[in-house]
Amino acid sequence: QSTATSRLMSQASTPPRSVVGIGGKVARPDYSEAKIVLAMVGLPARGKSYLSNKLMRYLKWLEYDVKVFNVGQLRRSRARQRALQSGKREDHTASYFSHGNVEATKLRDELASDSLEMLIQWLKEGGNVGIHDATNSTRERRQKIVNRVSREPGFVVIFLESLCDDPALLAANIALKVSSGDPDYKDMSREEAKRDFERRIREYEAVYETITEPHLSYLRIKNVGSQVTLCHIHGYLQSRIAFYLMNLHLKPRSIFFSRHGESQYNVEGKIGGDSALSERGQRYAKAMPALITDNIGDAPLTVWTSTLQRTIQTAQHLPYPKLTWKSLDELDAGVCDGMTYEEIEQAYPEDFANRDEDKFNYRYRGGESYRDVVVRLEPVIMELERQENILIIGHQAILRCLYAYFHDLPQADLPYIKIPLHTVIKLTPKAYGCDEERYTLPIGAVDTHRPKPKAAPPTLPVPSTARQYYTKDT
Ligand code: F6P
Ligand code: PEP
Repeated sequence: QSTATSRLMSQASTPPRSVVGIGGKVARPDYSEAKIVLAMVGLPARGKSYLSNKLMRYLKWLEYDVKVFNVGQLRRSRARQRALQSGKREDHTASYFSHGNVEATKLRDELASDSLEMLIQWLKEGGNVGIHDATNSTRERRQKIVNRVSREPGFVVIFLESLCDDPALLAANIALKVSSGDPDYKDMSREEAKRDFERRIREYEAVYETITEPHLSYLRIKNVGSQVTLCHIHGYLQSRIAFYLMNLHLKPRSIFFSRHGESQYNVEGKIGGDSALSERGQRYAKAMPALITDNIGDAPLTVWTSTLQRTIQTAQHLPYPKLTWKSLDELDAGVCDGMTYEEIEQAYPEDFANRDEDKFNYRYRGGESYRDVVVRLEPVIMELERQENILIIGHQAILRCLYAYFHDLPQADLPYIKIPLHTVIKLTPKAYGCDEERYTLPIGAVDTHRPKPKAAPPTLPVPSTARQYYTKDT
């Protein structure tokens, strides 16, 4: 093992420290020690960008500062600039990626190292995990990365190799590249693009070297979900990345979210508690089976609820296996549990103002903040990644946190996401992000959404793919 690598590995990041401040405010956890270069390795069409973006979304949700540095994008933007200056368009068809093309190979090496420099600079300015999204398919390229990163004290480099020999998966990846309006192929027919991309893959295959270097710290993932190999993976964040990748799969599936039916406390404007469903809430529970079964047909589904009776009652008529999770219980409002917002404002005016000022970080006295909830939901996210069709019957704050993960929404907006009662949200994971549909049942319910006062509220519009299937009665 090289000294550079062992030194880097011994400095691998430790769990973050969270600092509790005064007045219910919790300072951001200190991640400043985490400085990781995650370099992708793999032939084209092996899902490197998919994995990069997915990891970025997960780690950002956990509040790390993460950025993807995509070499293909840098190549295109530089080529555009040069074309503007010279008036000539550059040729980025398969021959550009041939190892025999000495000039292009030199250009590509320069692009990869410039992109790495940008990544390192960004880490120095405060970033935590920089993802180098390139093919890095030769030993020489990888050693260059190790040599460069080892000059930065405290920086760690790990490689993530994506292998894929499943013909169906490869065909889907190729189809995605040529059909998604990829800028490399925007002026070609789909057939031409497919032929060229397949040639490009062959050019890379001719010189591809899978990772065998014994000194490297790496993860290898095969056919996303079928096999993960770890080598020299040490440290807190690195292990989390590894565990996350082990749980991924690409099987088509849907994730449904619904809040419990309207509860007695909802009607009274009280927060928290463990009240039963109102009469309208019970009607919602009775209407759910038809809505879900119409949607999913005979496919298997598991229902997850919290341990609170309003979610269990909402699930009672659903003909599916059920699981209760303590982690899905609503945000704990501590001393304010069972009060209305007006009562809280009267009894704890300073806390009330603090919450409005920074709702994500505000921690109720004796209770939780949204940040605390995100931390306790991490095992739920991990399990959701592993599972197939799941319906979660949850609570307003809980579903906001889960929804933000799937749509990559920022922390400041998260506590204001609209998750109305008597509405089923269906998320269907796609190559990049999720499609969404909303089904609102025609059973009236109170509106528990409290917008951010005065300053422009960052409430989020319903994504354009969302559709209203049922109208609400009043
Ligand atoms: O009002 C319903 C409820 O689920 C409460 O139990 C919970 O405290 C609240 O919503 C969370 O929403 P917010 O964070 O907007 O107060
Ligand atoms: C690219 O230019 O699209 C690319 C991935 O580059 P490289 O193979 O040189 O990493």
